[in-house]
Amino acid sequence: KKIRCCKFLILTNSLLLLSLVLPSGIVFSHGERWKQMRRFTLMTLRNFGMGKRSIEDRIQEEAQHLMQALSHTQAQPVDPTFIFACAPCNMIFSILFNERLDYQDKELQQLIMLLNENISIASSFWTQLYNLWPSFIHYLPGRHQKFFKNIQNIKNFILEKVAQHQETLKPEQPRDYTDCFLDRMEEEKHNPYSEFNLENLVAVGFNLFSAGTETVTNTLRLALLILLKHPEVEGKIHEEIDRVVGRDRVPCMNDRAQMPYTDAVVHEVQRYINLIPSNLPHAVTQDTKFRQKYGLHTSAIVKHKLFYVYLKNVHLKWTQNYRK
Ligand code: HEM
Repeated sequence: KKIRCCKFLILTNSLLLLSLVLPSGIVFSHGERWKQMRRFTLMTLRNFGMGKRSIEDRIQEEAQHLMQALSHTQAQPVDPTFIFACAPCNMIFSILFNERLDYQDKELQQLIMLLNENISIASSFWTQLYNLWPSFIHYLPGRHQKFFKNIQNIKNFILEKVAQHQETLKPEQPRDYTDCFLDRMEEEKHNPYSEFNLENLVAVGFNLFSAGTETVTNTLRLALLILLKHPEVEGKIHEEIDRVVGRDRVPCMNDRAQMPYTDAVVHEVQRYINLIPSNLPHAVTQDTKFRQKYGLHTSAIVKHKLFYVYLKNVHLKWTQNYRK
């Protein structure tokens, strides 16, 4: 049994910067706050699959815009990083704020630039230094200062959107995640211990943008690269798409069950690219004996070697499907 926990990050890894500036929200919170934010977010995202405009609907629309942006490149050599980032970032924008932005929109471009820059800083030498001597490096000039500034800019941007929502909010008629959160804040306004406050709303927004944009962008980029290297696989995917979806409609989730080859390739790409090899840190919630040998005490930090799991036979069944 595990909970997500960040208070020992200082001992463990280069996410220290994030843990210091973002103890709210989902990704770097822990305990009761993490449970509540996670449960609420999952429930709200699920609810948007029913009745209101569904997330599938939004993804289908965004996929069309992505296709258009790619076709504008007219098969010329192009770095697709920015185009690929627009789609997931816009999806999250749409879930949070019920609007999508044009790929030329300055706000969207700025948001992607800030997220991208922070990923680069988080994996830089500066972050390693910061992790070694946080209380000293914190006061020195350096890239970590830019990191904090970027986070503040993204948070200000989210706060602005939230303020606009507060002005136009109609109770019980939520348009998006932000409205649902604001409704819940109103419901719990007399509870002094409520986790439903502006700080957590902004932090969850930040979490979704940062956890959702770079991961999907890099998966798309690497998938494209892999398919370029394996045209025979690409050919089989095309054949399956033509057979199941055809050319006259957009694909939907129901198609997935009839597309085992494409499904297997998506899984194989994720296994092979191994995007987050050591997972996020977790903490053990009760004393545990691992493999009859290793004693893990409550609160011990556990880092999973996901790359090792990906090499286990049970997961290679997808690979076998894909190689057929
Ligand atoms: C290919 C895409 C993605 C990959 C490979 C990926 C990978 C991961 C991994 C490995 C974790 C850690 C899970 C754990 O703690 O056990 C995680 C957590 C998380 N991801 Fe993703 N993710 C992807 C896309 C997304 C998207 C699109 C979103 C948001 C819209 C998102 C939001 C989150 C959040 C909020 C958490 C923290 C969950 C928690 O603390 O309980 N991720 N992701």
